[in-house]
Amino acid sequence: MFRKSLMTTLAVSALALSACGGGDNSDAGGGSEDGITMGFAQVGAESGWRTANTKDVQDAAKAAGIDLKFTDAQQKQENQIKAIRSYIQQQVDVIAFSPVVESGWDTVLKEAKDAGIPVILTDRSVDSADTSLYATFLGSDFVQEGKSAGEWLVEDSAATDGPVNIVELQGTTGAAPALDRKEGFEAAIAADPDLKIVSSQTGDFTRSGGKQVMEAFLKNTPDIDVVYAHNDDMGLGAIEAIEAAGMVPGKDIKIITVDAVKDGMTALSEGKINFIAECNPLLGAQLMDLAEKVVNGEDVPARVVTEETTFTSEQAKEALPTRKY
Ligand code: AHR
Repeated sequence: MFRKSLMTTLAVSALALSACGGGDNSDAGGGSEDGITMGFAQVGAESGWRTANTKDVQDAAKAAGIDLKFTDAQQKQENQIKAIRSYIQQQVDVIAFSPVVESGWDTVLKEAKDAGIPVILTDRSVDSADTSLYATFLGSDFVQEGKSAGEWLVEDSAATDGPVNIVELQGTTGAAPALDRKEGFEAAIAADPDLKIVSSQTGDFTRSGGKQVMEAFLKNTPDIDVVYAHNDDMGLGAIEAIEAAGMVPGKDIKIITVDAVKDGMTALSEGKINFIAECNPLLGAQLMDLAEKVVNGEDVPARVVTEETTFTSEQAKEALPTRKY
């Protein structure tokens, strides 16, 4: 491992001294010359998007020669905090994580800062007022994803008279993509007073969650016209519930999702989903590049926004054969 920032160089010298005295300097953290070590605390394995993201980060670390210590937090904030503390203890060179929820990170981020270990936020952000607690944030513009989804619906409903009843499958409560995709969608549909969210509940970004909540919506909410799901997996779960209720997804009830992973794109190409706003999970190469720069004390932008697009059914058919995830 090596670190080149001033703070970390000081920490390294202190460690090297104590290692000489203590006799054990195997991977003692920050002292030797054998490359960068990154501690990565992943959200979990809740969706196709997450699986693609994990694989991409692991592949990119290997390609960059970065030693990756990986934790799956199983969608629990306390597990991520525990993992980050363990990385601090192990004196990794850099910590990267995708926060399960937006709030509650200040204490652990201060601990990392005090230990001289830079933190990179990847995919999701935190709501900490002190932005010096992390080096940079690499990820999508979730508000824009929600807006794109809403704008498509406004256009699609332009010729329709009367109310359009929307049910919303929210992502994990308190997670940045759930908060932001809701905000962006609501801002866009405000352009047409006929468009109304009549029920909204979390499906925790999982397929089973989406199915379960949709089953309840179908029982309790009359005249559903549209499902807005904060990710493909919940939309795919909703499709199962709609089909089980004897209706045709994409026709009897329109479906809009976010992500554009293979299963979602396949359903879109078959007309079961009507529109997808893309969220790109392939963040690995950019993350490793930022990590190298941060560890070497180079300047990095405070925010790196991922490039994304949107897909209709026709566009999904074209894109599918070369889609990487
Ligand atoms: O943070 C990105 C979101 O998390 C993806 O849209 C969703 O599929 C995942 O679980």
